[in-house]
Amino acid sequence: MKPMLEITNLCKFFPIRNALGRHTGDVRAVDNVSFSIPRGAVYGLAGESGSGKSTIARMIMGLSQPSSGEIRIDGEPVGSVRSSREHGRKVQMVFQNPGSSLNPRRTVGQSIAVPLDAHGHPSSGRARRISELLEMVQLPTNFAERFPHELSGGQKQRVAIARALAVTPRLVVLDEPTSALDVSVQARVIDLLVELGQRLDLTFLFISHDLSLMRNFASQVGVLYRGKIVETGPTADVFVNPQHDYTQLLLASVPVISAEEEAMRPKIPLIDGEIPTAEKLIELRSGGHQISGQASNAKQSFNEEQPR
Ligand SMILES: Nc1ncnc2c1ncn2[C@@H]1O[C@H](COP(=O)(O)OP(=O)(O)O)[C@@H](O)[C@H]1O
Ligand SMILES: [Mg+2]
Repeated sequence: MKPMLEITNLCKFFPIRNALGRHTGDVRAVDNVSFSIPRGAVYGLAGESGSGKSTIARMIMGLSQPSSGEIRIDGEPVGSVRSSREHGRKVQMVFQNPGSSLNPRRTVGQSIAVPLDAHGHPSSGRARRISELLEMVQLPTNFAERFPHELSGGQKQRVAIARALAVTPRLVVLDEPTSALDVSVQARVIDLLVELGQRLDLTFLFISHDLSLMRNFASQVGVLYRGKIVETGPTADVFVNPQHDYTQLLLASVPVISAEEEAMRPKIPLIDGEIPTAEKLIELRSGGHQISGQASNAKQSFNEEQPR
């Protein structure tokens, strides 16, 4: 069966210009990225801020053109999709900040009605569909009359999810959907997404800087570092046996629960008592450059260095 999303050798370079407007180089925001997501699966794309996650999301949504490479949704190349309406019906996105993605002057019901109207949903059944969508995201149906400022962050994000699901997409791109929320709210929103994914047979691309959120949600993860996927595989494998230094670094900051998990936690060398940046760590491990005055420190493992 065709994967729901298939990305092949995707690149996005942004030109860098000097003060005279001359092209002096490129930011390689997305650099030869390939991965695919089977139908009904959850793929977690992790990486620090600036690693290229949102640039990939924007290209999937057709909001930005790739420099090269190909994106297929349900077998169909994104660029060649006959109309944006057809594309929008297949794929929807939930953004990081529900505060700014919801129009403050529209009621919740009006916001959810926008994609319904855009996709030609009959206006007669609109109120019922809005109630159904609110129930789906576990909000009271009378929330349709409320304005965004009357809602908590978690409730706003539930509305954004309802709006994304309004036109029954097959693929949902979640770009840091819980990063603006408190930890306890985060967990409940993720539980809701898991439940909706199973019930509605959705395929998710779950993007986050926080690898720990993917542990119980994603079946596969990809780790993005400076525009490149440096590691990918089944979530359990990546968590238990991370291959790449940068993945180990991301995992070292994941809160651990059991002693067993603690023992599995990768040991990261400290530099001057601090967890090094990914760049320093990779430089250090590649053995090429020594970081002056810090090398002896860096040889000690994270565990020996300080109790947590
Ligand atoms: N429109 C743009 N013009 C120039 N550079 C951009 C643009 N959008 C993103 N970038 C750069 O591309 C890189 C990746 O950005 P982004 O995809 O937003 O990262 P992430 O979502 O992982 O934080 C960053 O270096 C960012 O500065
Ligand atoms: Mg981003």
